[in-house]
Amino acid sequence: MSKICVIGTGYVGLVTGACFADLGNTVTCLDVDASRIERLKQGIMPIYEPGLEQIVQQNVRHGRLHFTTSYPEALKDAEFAFIAVGTPSGVDGEADLQYVRQAAEAIADIVDHPIVVVNKSTVPVGTGDWVAEVINRRRAGKPLDFSVVSNPEFLREGSAINDFMMPDRVVLGSLDRNAAEKVAQLYQSLRCPIMITDLRTAEMIKYASNAFLATRISFINEIANICEELGADVREVARGMGLDKRIGPAFLDAGLGWGGSCFPKDVKALAHMAVLHGTHPQLLQAVMEINRNQRRRVVVKLRKALGSLDQKVIGVLGLSFKPNTDDIREAPALEVIHLLENEGALVKAYDPQAMDNARSVLPRVQLVDTPYQVAEGADALVLATEWNEFKQLDFDQIYHSMRQPIIMDARNLWDPDKLRSLGFTYFGIGRGNSIHPKG
Ligand SMILES: NC(=O)c1ccc[n+]([C@@H]2O[C@H](COP(=O)([O-])OP(=O)(O)OC[C@H]3O[C@@H](n4cnc5c(N)ncnc54)[C@H](O)[C@@H]3O)[C@@H](O)[C@H]2O)c1
Repeated sequence: MSKICVIGTGYVGLVTGACFADLGNTVTCLDVDASRIERLKQGIMPIYEPGLEQIVQQNVRHGRLHFTTSYPEALKDAEFAFIAVGTPSGVDGEADLQYVRQAAEAIADIVDHPIVVVNKSTVPVGTGDWVAEVINRRRAGKPLDFSVVSNPEFLREGSAINDFMMPDRVVLGSLDRNAAEKVAQLYQSLRCPIMITDLRTAEMIKYASNAFLATRISFINEIANICEELGADVREVARGMGLDKRIGPAFLDAGLGWGGSCFPKDVKALAHMAVLHGTHPQLLQAVMEINRNQRRRVVVKLRKALGSLDQKVIGVLGLSFKPNTDDIREAPALEVIHLLENEGALVKAYDPQAMDNARSVLPRVQLVDTPYQVAEGADALVLATEWNEFKQLDFDQIYHSMRQPIIMDARNLWDPDKLRSLGFTYFGIGRGNSIHPKG
C-alpha cells in the first residue's frame, strides 16, 4: 500500500483521495482553503456528491484518510503527489495554470525524497513537461529525484465515486515508463483497462474526450432545432440513432446544452491551443456556438409565447448544471436566468441541492423551497435541470396555481400529451411542436 498526497480537495481531489484511501492506501488531502479543510476534519462535506460522505468518514475512522493545509505535513514521505487543483479559463479561453504552478513549486520547495508527481488536473498539452521544468528550475543546484505522470480524470459529478471505482479506462502518460507503471499499480485492483502512453498524448486524450462529448450534445441540439421545424421528435430520433452500435445512446439528449466546470472551459482551452499553434478549430467553434444559441432559443420561445418578458414571472426548476450535483459553474440555468432578467423578467427558482451556491450569484432571483412555490403565480415554468424529483410533479396543482399555464420543458423530461391534455401550453426541445402540435 502506498502513501499518497492529493493537492486540491475539490470534486476531483476529494473523490480521488477518499477512493485511494478506500483501496487501502494512506492518503493526505491538502487544500489552501482552510475553512474547507476544517469542515472536512469535522466530517462535513464541502460539496454534494452521492456516497462521498460515507466513504470519507469511513476512511477517516480507519486512519487512512487525513486532511491538512500544511504542505510539509501532506508531502512527508509521500511516494505520489497528485495535483488536482482547478484549471479555470483565463481571459482568452486558455487554461489558467497558476494553481498548478503553486502546487509544483511547493513540491520543489519541500520534498527531499524520490516522488512521482501525478497530474490529475485537466491541463493543456505540454503542461507535464512544464511542471517538470518548474520543479527543476526551482531546485537548481539541488536536483530532486522525481518523474511527472499525466493521469487525466474522467469522473462525472453526480456519479463520481462509481466512476472512480469502476472506470472505463485509466490513462497514464509519462516519459518515464517505470513511474507510469508505479501509478498503474495504484489502480490495479480496479481491474479496468490501463493505457500507458506519452505525456502529451495523455493530456490530449482528456481534451479530445470532453470535446467529443460536447460535440455529441451540440450535434443532437442542432438536429433538435431542425426537428422542430420539420415536425419530427428528436427524442425518438436520438433513440433510433443510439440503437446503432456504432453510435450508441449516450450524450444524445437534446436540451439546454452542456455546462459545468469542465466542458465549457476544456472546449475553449482546446480551441485556444489549436489557434495558438496555427490550426483552425472550426468544428469546436461551431460546437460552442450551437451551445450558446441553445440557451437563447429557450428565451426566444418564451418571449414569443408571452408577447414580452418584461415584468413576467418566470419560474425556473433546477439550477445545478446537471442533476445530482450542487455545482453551478457554467450552469445553463444561470445563463437562461441572466437572459430572462435582461429582458425584465422576474425569476423565481428552486433546486434540490444548489440553492446555497446559487444565492450569492443570483441576487435578484427569488429562491423558494419547493417546485410548487416556483409555479405559484408564474407566467411560465422552465425546467432547466432534470432532477429526479421533478419527474413526478402534481401538474394539476401546478396548473391551478400558475398565472399562465405555459411550460418550457428545456430537458424534454415530461410527457407533452399529458401536459397539453391538462391545459398547458407545452414547449419542449426538438419535439416538432412548431408544425405538428400534439393534443
Ligand atoms: N469536476 C469535475 O467533474 C472534473 C472531472 C474531471 C477533471 N476535472 C479537472 O480536475 C481539476 C480540478 O477540478 P475540480 O472540479 O475538482 O476543482 P475544484 O474547484 O472543485 O477544486 C479545486 C481545489 O483546489 C484547491 N487549490 C487551489 N490552489 C491550490 C494549491 N496551490 N494548493 C492546494 N490546493 C489548492 C482549491 O481551494 C479547491 O478546493 C480541474 O482541472 C478540472 O478540469 C474536473
